[in-house]
Amino acid sequence: MKHAFRLLPFLLITIVALAQVQAPAQNTTLNSAPLIQNVIHRHTISLNGDWHYIVDSHEIGAARRYYTNGKGATTSAVVEYDFGKSPTLHVPGDWNSQYPEFGLYEGTVWYENSFTYHPSPNTQTFLYIGAANYRAHVWMNGESLCEHEGGFAPFNCNATGLLKDGDNFVVISVNDTRHIDDIPALAPDWWNYGGVTRDVMLVDVSQTFIENYSVQLERGSMSHVAGWVQLAEASESQKIAQQKITVRIPELKISQEATTNANGTAHFAFDLPGVQLWSPENPKLYSVEIASEADRISDEIGFRSIEIRGLDIVLNGHPVFLRGITMHEEALGHPGRAHGDDDARALLGLAKELGCNFVRLAHYPHDEHMTRMADRMGLLVWSEIPVWQAIDWNNPAVLQKAKQQLTEMISRDHNRASIILWSVTNESKAIPERNAFIHELVTTARALDPTRLITAATNQFKRPDAHSIVVDDPVIADLDVFGLNEYVGWYYGTSADLDNFSFTTPYNKPMIVSEFGGEAKAGNHGTPGQRWTEEDQEEIYKHQLAALRKVTFLRGIAPWVLKDFRSPNRQLPVLQDGYNRKGLVSETGEHKKAFYVLQQFYQKAASNNITDKK
Ligand code: GCU
Repeated sequence: MKHAFRLLPFLLITIVALAQVQAPAQNTTLNSAPLIQNVIHRHTISLNGDWHYIVDSHEIGAARRYYTNGKGATTSAVVEYDFGKSPTLHVPGDWNSQYPEFGLYEGTVWYENSFTYHPSPNTQTFLYIGAANYRAHVWMNGESLCEHEGGFAPFNCNATGLLKDGDNFVVISVNDTRHIDDIPALAPDWWNYGGVTRDVMLVDVSQTFIENYSVQLERGSMSHVAGWVQLAEASESQKIAQQKITVRIPELKISQEATTNANGTAHFAFDLPGVQLWSPENPKLYSVEIASEADRISDEIGFRSIEIRGLDIVLNGHPVFLRGITMHEEALGHPGRAHGDDDARALLGLAKELGCNFVRLAHYPHDEHMTRMADRMGLLVWSEIPVWQAIDWNNPAVLQKAKQQLTEMISRDHNRASIILWSVTNESKAIPERNAFIHELVTTARALDPTRLITAATNQFKRPDAHSIVVDDPVIADLDVFGLNEYVGWYYGTSADLDNFSFTTPYNKPMIVSEFGGEAKAGNHGTPGQRWTEEDQEEIYKHQLAALRKVTFLRGIAPWVLKDFRSPNRQLPVLQDGYNRKGLVSETGEHKKAFYVLQQFYQKAASNNITDKK
């Protein structure tokens, strides 16, 4: 599992650009180092704040050497840019929502930040970027440092050799144009928020440091931890083999020693007598301290067991019904991408107000603040990569990109107790090349993380008549539990059709309805059946919930969607105006009538545990 984390960043993936719309041929993770686990508890210097920017819609910045920040220009050269006199963008934050003229901008923006830094002796320093959507190239003091493709995962680059003691400047070019061989590809149903959308920081680590670790209960156990620690070295000369590692959980009086092997990996296992298992009702987190001979790190980790028993999803030995909601990473309190603890707390607080014990974080890995907040607030999580609808299934480079994004998602969050499901696709068409692609991803996910459930959200089903759905997507055979996205009452059929409805599947697997819903403009009132009114959305929810609770293999629901969100695909004036209005609350948090229908259903489900209703 950990070797996969280490190997991928060094795989030079050559993009085979396609005839139709070609991505610029470049490496997708050039010189990015293996992901450093749990940076927020390390010695970091934040570079968040106002960065100067230059919009480069004609892509001339590289030729004009913007990355030198004007340094080294010969006196005769005409320098036609000056970051120091240019306006600023706040980091973290998408550019679209910071200036009106950026609203629909897709292209390249150059960011620059000058800072003073004094390296500590015997350390190495990484530049950590929480996410940059979609392609990023990073220069430090005018020298190329690293590149990364993918808009929703962190990457870190070893800047030790390029940082100076004193004044430094970092330049990042971010490009978010969409391409058929990207992930997601050309037309996702969400706003293409570009830019440096999550935290940026310098991370100081010792020459030999703890790069990653896993401290989780073994699959199927409620008391036995089987984990590992991975050391990394600054250079070949450093010793990572035969190093003593200590893992402590003071509150449980655990202190376990282990020794690293030739690859710098130490395996350990121990029992957790008296452990309080993590659950939505009791989101107990323990301080876990890991030390090597040269480094130490602490983390907040919960211990819980998740498994499938027959048609049940079993949490800590008890069947659980997932009372969920889906949500995009779009803030409640301000326009644009959500980031940081405050945004996470606001969005997950709404889910809690609904009575949820579960959230589907669609359609891409959310900020680490979100998954850590779910750990703290007690919400089970479905986390997914943006293999959304139409992807270039026949392109080997695209499969590598999907595996990279899957590896990054799992590498960052595999210690988060709240996450119980990794999802590998949403609504992709069941054609042979897609089935093979998804099989590869499921295999990769299982190899990276044998402790969690693997799923996918499918809309590949037959509708023999207006009153039935047969979910027969072949990829379900690979999954532990499958998600069904169905829109009876909105995209097809009527709410009344649901009153005598049959959901069946040839697979003997538990199902989560991972999307249902309908659109309503908050404050737009009328009668059920009158589209775009709150009463119509309310009617859809009433009939959907009544129909779903009869499905004997249903083990969760996550209606689409918590909050109205921006999408270029939704352009009906007055009613949409660039928003997908399936939210239970508006973009400003106004609660629609359907919110209370779902809330009431969850209050009843929580009290009499719907899984008893077989
Ligand atoms: C799809 C898709 C969502 C989309 C939603 C909708 O199922 O997964 O990304 O926003 O339906 O049509 O509103």
